[in-house]
Amino acid sequence: MKIAILPGDGIGPEIVAEAVKVLNVLDLPFETESALVGGAAYEAYGHPLPEATLKLAKDADAVLFGAVGDWKYDTLDRPLRPEQAILGLRKNLGLFANFRPAICYEQLTHASSLKPELVAGLDILIIRELTGDIYFGQPRGRRIATDGHFPGSEEAFDTMRYSRPEIERIAHVAFQAARKRSKRVTSVDKANVLETFQFWKDVVTEVGRQYPDVALDHMYVDNAAMQLVKAPKKFDVVVTGNMFGDILSDAAAMLTGSIGMLPSASLNEKNQGLYEPSHGSAPDIAGKGVANPLATILSAAMMLRFSLNQPDAAARIEKAVDQVLSQGLRTPDIYSEGTIRVGTVEMGDAVVKALA
Ligand code: IPM
Ligand code: MG
Repeated sequence: MKIAILPGDGIGPEIVAEAVKVLNVLDLPFETESALVGGAAYEAYGHPLPEATLKLAKDADAVLFGAVGDWKYDTLDRPLRPEQAILGLRKNLGLFANFRPAICYEQLTHASSLKPELVAGLDILIIRELTGDIYFGQPRGRRIATDGHFPGSEEAFDTMRYSRPEIERIAHVAFQAARKRSKRVTSVDKANVLETFQFWKDVVTEVGRQYPDVALDHMYVDNAAMQLVKAPKKFDVVVTGNMFGDILSDAAAMLTGSIGMLPSASLNEKNQGLYEPSHGSAPDIAGKGVANPLATILSAAMMLRFSLNQPDAAARIEKAVDQVLSQGLRTPDIYSEGTIRVGTVEMGDAVVKALA
């Protein structure tokens, strides 16, 4: 088994180092190889996703990814910005199925901005389609308008589109995931306004007929955003498109108190996957040794389960994380009075110790 390690920018290298430390004490048969990605790769090679990095990722069984991005690259041409690295990896590896769990740990119930009773025991799985929609739809660009409200003026445009097979395959992923949970799927759309999402709703409904044991309901995205902060525990598996999934998954993540706790997996049809924390590169705290490595450590656990067929090792990591939280250890993002404040490395060390 081969794991490509792509730490990236900002806090990426610090948190990935802790996850690698944890993986290494498990004594499993895998090799790792690291490469630069994002702004770090741009600095070294002039491109956020160099050929060699892409090749390493493609040839590996799984990719452990940190984060990319820094405000200092905001003025670069779009193809050279760090974000293009993650978009390019998703597209080139065909990582269409993005799993974003939002779990509220009992020990962290009070870190949420919502009332504890609304989030205690929260366990939502957002399944976001990741290689289609307005993110990748062509055509896109800038031009001089020939129609609309202001013909002759400059305009910009993107294309929202989904094909039947794209919707079918992500719907199957969602229904199958629901079968392993509480057998409920909420499909989020904007069918009342958008043709693309009326089609989405129709196709998801059709696929749903093959899963009579799973209850399917549909919700408009604006209502879904409201329900997420009003009664989040009503959701179980949520399946949606790339754009809506981007927005809703950040909202769902914050319900749990800290985005620093949430892992994610992005899989292709061969179960090859890219695993990354749900949070970003946080350049403001980079290099200070205070970032929470748990989301990345939990992403490594997802990697062992989904791509490397090591469910026992994955469960051990998850248990160890639970244990360090119970010991009261907290990085600043999840710190509250009466708990023990630790840094990135101490947190990683504590997980390693809990594994032993
Ligand atoms: C995410 C991020 C990315 C996205 C950015 C960095 C391109 O926000 O993974 O949610 O929009 O998909
Ligand atoms: Mg996002």
